[in-house]
Amino acid sequence: MIKSLCMASSLLVFSGIAFAQKAKTPKPITQSETEFIDGLMARMTIEEKIGQLTLYTSGWDVTGPSLNPTSTEELREGRVGGLFNAHGVAYVRGLQDIAVKETRLGIPLLFGYDVIHGHQTIFPTPLGEASSWDLDLIQESARLSAIEAAASGLNWTFNPMVDIARDPRWGRVMEGSGEDTYLGSKIGVAKVIGYQGDNLADPLTLLACVKHFAAYGAPLAGRDYGTVDMSERTLREYYLPPYKAAIDAGAATVMTSFNEVDGVPATGSSWLLTDILRNEWGFKGFVVTDYTAINEILAFGVVPDLKAAGELALKSGVDMDMEGSVFNRFTKQSLEEGKVTEAEIDQAVRRILEAKWKAGLFANPYLYLDEKREKMHVRSQVMKDHALNAGKRSIVLLKNEAVNDIPLLPISKSVKTIAVIGPVGDNQLDVMGSWHASGIEADVVTVLAGIRKAVPNALVTYTQGCGFEGDDTSGFAAARTAASKADIVIMALGENYVQSGEAASRTDIRLPGQQEALVSAIMATGKPVIALIAAGRPLDLSALDEQVPAIVNTWQLGTMHGVAVADVLFGDYNPSAKITMTFPRNVGQIPLFYNTKNVGRPIDLDQKYTSKYIDAPNTPLYPFGYGLSYTTFAYSDLTVSQPAMAMADTISVSVTVTNTGKMAGEEVVQLYVKDMVGSVTRPVRELKGFDKIMLAPGESKTVTFRLSANDLAFYNQNMDFKAEPGEFEVFIGGDSNASLSGGFELK
Ligand code: NOJ
Repeated sequence: MIKSLCMASSLLVFSGIAFAQKAKTPKPITQSETEFIDGLMARMTIEEKIGQLTLYTSGWDVTGPSLNPTSTEELREGRVGGLFNAHGVAYVRGLQDIAVKETRLGIPLLFGYDVIHGHQTIFPTPLGEASSWDLDLIQESARLSAIEAAASGLNWTFNPMVDIARDPRWGRVMEGSGEDTYLGSKIGVAKVIGYQGDNLADPLTLLACVKHFAAYGAPLAGRDYGTVDMSERTLREYYLPPYKAAIDAGAATVMTSFNEVDGVPATGSSWLLTDILRNEWGFKGFVVTDYTAINEILAFGVVPDLKAAGELALKSGVDMDMEGSVFNRFTKQSLEEGKVTEAEIDQAVRRILEAKWKAGLFANPYLYLDEKREKMHVRSQVMKDHALNAGKRSIVLLKNEAVNDIPLLPISKSVKTIAVIGPVGDNQLDVMGSWHASGIEADVVTVLAGIRKAVPNALVTYTQGCGFEGDDTSGFAAARTAASKADIVIMALGENYVQSGEAASRTDIRLPGQQEALVSAIMATGKPVIALIAAGRPLDLSALDEQVPAIVNTWQLGTMHGVAVADVLFGDYNPSAKITMTFPRNVGQIPLFYNTKNVGRPIDLDQKYTSKYIDAPNTPLYPFGYGLSYTTFAYSDLTVSQPAMAMADTISVSVTVTNTGKMAGEEVVQLYVKDMVGSVTRPVRELKGFDKIMLAPGESKTVTFRLSANDLAFYNQNMDFKAEPGEFEVFIGGDSNASLSGGFELK
């Protein structure tokens, strides 16, 4: 598997990306490690062994129901293998001291945390950062957040989340990289490499945890924790590859998902956790459940009691029980009753001890606990600089119409009066987005502060207008007055940080509260309006698109939100990001994604009995891969290196991209492939390559992609993953509607 990933990497010919994607070969377990672990296990009681399979929250951050009030007592008895939600060197040291000095065997604890997009310095939400299509940047975000978190005493992050998501009603789309399998796999790899580096025993790295295995991103109707029901073909072709890519890159741990897959709860699925993960993919690390997921098997109604849930989980391939205490309470009894074997327990214990060894904790249980390092890295200028860079590179320009013949953006710095209006305008908390870990709210630069700093000579007023929720429109009048006094209005709109993320599914994905009405009220003043959207998910922006001349999807950018936004507003940075999830026209179109299938009755507006809606187009508001720049790009000369390629061969596809505007800018050049005839139906097109290039005004560059048969392969009727001979069409352009095309035959 590692071999095939390296092969795929070497085929990426575009600059930077190949470098970022170099997967690490996980270090093999050495003789001395095996001897040490054997020796330790020989001294462990069954309670201590089961204790290693137990993970508890320290009680700082609660991200689910709290079940276990006795964890400190259990910690002292050596019945806990790791803690999560504890951070800060002094606090972690106190807990590690208990494990090392007060338990019989002194086995050190793992310390985990949801370091998802930063630790105390917050970077853009993952869906936002995915829009950068910049794998080096994403890898660097992971590396720096690992440094900041590890310097705080942590050694394990519950990330990357690589769940493919096609439904923006699901609140957790903000945590992943969007709808595409190819891009999502690359991003997952970049994050694993960023967190883990070359050596897990380096005290500035974290063990990565690939989650949520599997298909958590596809709950029916987008309702979090909901049922997942899909064909094995869809699962294997679109949902599983990002997990596998991240595992092939050396991810140390995997987290199970809350959902069922095809009638079996994932946390009790031996098909997922053993057949696929271990036997097919060769995963060697340990599997942790999601929060109380073993307990939740009971609610699915596939086991009679908690003890049986624990047996099912352990036998299926779970190694560590997060927060639920099921293993600690019942597994000894299960062993005595012959329902589980000691070998099954030992195997899980061994995997967890191996991870501790790799993290360097047996050599030094206090390896991650150094106050000097903490002081140096946490909230450092390096972190802030990166937050700004990542922020700018994640902002997507969705619309930029001319007002009086000049595009509204960028705004001239000689502007005299700006009215900032909307609930995001002077907000520090919500622009950190969901999963902002222990992000420091006071460090966040607001939109208002960012704008004031960028144009110190302008009068910049702020009026909230309305909140994120409720019916209150009493602030509209003041907002209208402020707008009417300004040369330009910047509306800072979006979702608050709990309106996306876990347990935050929505059935209406328009701007929440009275924000759409506020936009209409401000538009009525006749002033030029720019809308900034800071949301966790793609919103239905149809109402805004109809009336507002400029729309910037800023996402929630974290600590440096306001500076990054101002850099784009005033042209200090030319936006270069492109959405990685389709923006629908309305919620009724969902799920809507670009790599959809052909159907027997394709849309024909003149024919009633074709596949379409009678009240909305089939097309999205903004397609996957879309995003504007302050300059324009032209694509020409698509060239395929040869008319046909053999199975063992590769083929090159080149295109010339020219900056036809007046400003230097970056373009994400995207390659899509369509299999014209397959033995099973194939998507209308699929992303198979991309490159992000910088072009000066008037400059042209040739971008070359290389395709192998592996890039053209899919699961046939026998579920064999193979490419089939035949015709292929390729498209290259700046979004998934790319029309410049060519073709070749696979022989
Ligand atoms: C539940 C979430 O689903 C998971 O992603 C997270 O890592 C755990 N809680 C721990 O906070």
